[in-house]
Amino acid sequence: MRENSLAEIVQEIMNCRNCTLYASKTNYVPGEGSENARVMFIGEAPGREEDEQGRPFVGNAGKLLTAMIENVLGLSRKDVYITNILKCRPPHNRDPAENEIDACFPFLIRQINAIKPDVVVCLGRHSARVIFEHFQIPFRSITRDRGVLREKEVDGRKMCFMATYHPAAALYKPPLKEIIEEDFRRLTGTIKRKNKTLFDFFS
Ligand code: URA
Repeated sequence: MRENSLAEIVQEIMNCRNCTLYASKTNYVPGEGSENARVMFIGEAPGREEDEQGRPFVGNAGKLLTAMIENVLGLSRKDVYITNILKCRPPHNRDPAENEIDACFPFLIRQINAIKPDVVVCLGRHSARVIFEHFQIPFRSITRDRGVLREKEVDGRKMCFMATYHPAAALYKPPLKEIIEEDFRRLTGTIKRKNKTLFDFFS
């Protein structure tokens, strides 16, 4: 079967009616960044600002994520790819429902297949739970499993997966910011060792 390009997948997302969230959203939020990204960040679901703008992580949590990408990893948002488990905002930012995750998840897997990143960073417990489960990586809780890089062979390619706290959690619990930063730093070291091409980004 021919793999879809990222643009084709995004086009499908923009017409999706696989669950009821399409009816209450303002804009679909498919994701943004480079089709050649080596690092992919996956959050939970769009919030109010994201829903208004149709772009992921543009509110306060997004500002923190952007600052970490720039200041800790030395990359820009254009170098990476940022998306969410759900592409439409759940009303009042409630947790994603299982049927919504089931309906939306195939898009995310196709986005990962199209981009083929070296590293997938799961932001928060919802993202970590569903991504780790899909790729058959053990996951107990975000507190116990964050900050550990797990290597996994996916379709003959080595990929790394890491979970960390959601940046929004650090907004109301500031000590978490340092922990996320520490996890991002760990990511940098591993990427440097792992990938010469990416190493050029950091040096
Ligand atoms: N929180 C998320 O999980 N995703 C966004 O895009 C914004 C906030």
